[in-house]
Amino acid sequence: MQEIQHVAVFDFGSQYTQLIVRRVRELGFFAKLYSPEDIAEIGAPGAIILSGGPKSTSEPGAPDIDFEKLKSFGVPVLGVCYGMQLLNIKFGGTVKASNKREYGPAALNPTCHQDLYEGISTESQVWMSHSDTVQDLHEGAKVIATNQHGTPVSLRWPGQFYGIQFHPEVTHSHEGLRILNNFLLQAEELQPFHIEDFKREMIDGIRDQVGEKQVVCGVSGGVDSTVLAVLLKEAGVNVRAIFVDNGLLRKDETIAVQNNFHRMGVEIETIDASDEFLTALAGKEDPEEKRKIIGNLFIKVFWDTVGDAQILAQGTLYPDVIESASNAKSKASVIKTHHNRVPKILELQEQGKVLEPLAELFKDEVRELGAALGIAPDILGRHPFPGPGLAVRCPGAVDRERLSVIRECDAIFIGKLKEHGWYDRVWQAYAGLIPVKTVGVKGDERSYEWATNLRAVISEDAMTAEWVDLPAQLLRETSQQILNEVSGINRVLYDISTKPPASIEWE
Ligand code: XMP
Repeated sequence: MQEIQHVAVFDFGSQYTQLIVRRVRELGFFAKLYSPEDIAEIGAPGAIILSGGPKSTSEPGAPDIDFEKLKSFGVPVLGVCYGMQLLNIKFGGTVKASNKREYGPAALNPTCHQDLYEGISTESQVWMSHSDTVQDLHEGAKVIATNQHGTPVSLRWPGQFYGIQFHPEVTHSHEGLRILNNFLLQAEELQPFHIEDFKREMIDGIRDQVGEKQVVCGVSGGVDSTVLAVLLKEAGVNVRAIFVDNGLLRKDETIAVQNNFHRMGVEIETIDASDEFLTALAGKEDPEEKRKIIGNLFIKVFWDTVGDAQILAQGTLYPDVIESASNAKSKASVIKTHHNRVPKILELQEQGKVLEPLAELFKDEVRELGAALGIAPDILGRHPFPGPGLAVRCPGAVDRERLSVIRECDAIFIGKLKEHGWYDRVWQAYAGLIPVKTVGVKGDERSYEWATNLRAVISEDAMTAEWVDLPAQLLRETSQQILNEVSGINRVLYDISTKPPASIEWE
């Protein structure tokens, strides 16, 4: 997607780096995340942002960037936190290392109200999260804002190089978005980004990569794979859309998915592989093992069905790419294996047989693209559903009985959310199973049955999530109906855990 003039965001490891990308896109410009080593290979960006990071510039092995190359682009550069300290050193200044952390709100007082600070208040709240500070400045450096103590927190160097000590990307920086926008306005070459342009770019890219080859595309009925299938249809490539019933789907899901694709004029082939999946999963309790079994079997079923396919299309999104890329670079621990990154897929990827046209988009952008492709709002508004399906909503081993119990609980909960007008206000919701038996009373008899956990969250891209304060009446009705109608359940719990530390799914 080199044709779109974009903002290159270099990642020095801050927990907020992804947010910078998001904010730039919210402002209507296309942004992409790079590791500093990538600078040698990127095309010509329209503007550059250097992110914050947890290290001190004075630490051995602290991340660095090729400054000559950075200057050679001749475009505006903004250093945020670590990025500003690094720029100060590159321009011949110094940074004072400190063990003391400044974390929280601070006042920003611009020394003049132009460029970055055009239209910004005389005293504006910003968010700080740093230890080191800039010390000596290069003679060409200009202080363009200070904090409440008069300490420089924003600099400008010769050329269009800017530095800010605070984090404009977090909402606690009240005018942060405006400051970012002011920075982007300095970049004359930067074109606003429209999803329609992106759609055309993607279609051309797909045609180029695919040519006459046969593409196989797995569809789940979720937003990502649906948009992918419609995009492939729009590109007019030779595609087979396969829907695998892995036995881990929700109640009546197969029929719903078939109907939806029928409405969009996309032909899908349904493969019932539930026996195969459930046999392979029998007695398997380890979450990672379950995920791997499902991921690998999915590919096998797929490849057994379409052995002659030359390209596999996947609805991978940008957060997955960033997460696995940064994991690979930082060697951070793998929290969960997403099924679009299992070894078999990585192998195919190396052979150039994987097509991931959505890999540069965030979830809400995929929805926007779907709307631009004419997909109906009720299809685009479906809650996300994990590839490994109900298996990750039942800790421990899964079997038909447990799955059937989850299906019934889930259908009741989702039905109630829709009835009360909450389905579209919630990012994702489901009922899962806690396969622990507890004692209760049903009718006049002692019961000894499992519990179901209801989960409803709001989230931005699933990286973090908050539980939803659902009305008590909705929960009461859900609980009553489950306890009355679902045999095997005598307890209903509502999960009030945020992510982190919990995750959205239980496994
Ligand atoms: P967690 O549980 O990690 O989930 O907080 C974040 C989001 O990702 C979905 N999820 C998956 N989606 N393949 C997927 O396509 C997977 O293996 C997978 N695991 C979790 C989950 O439903 C939530 O929306």
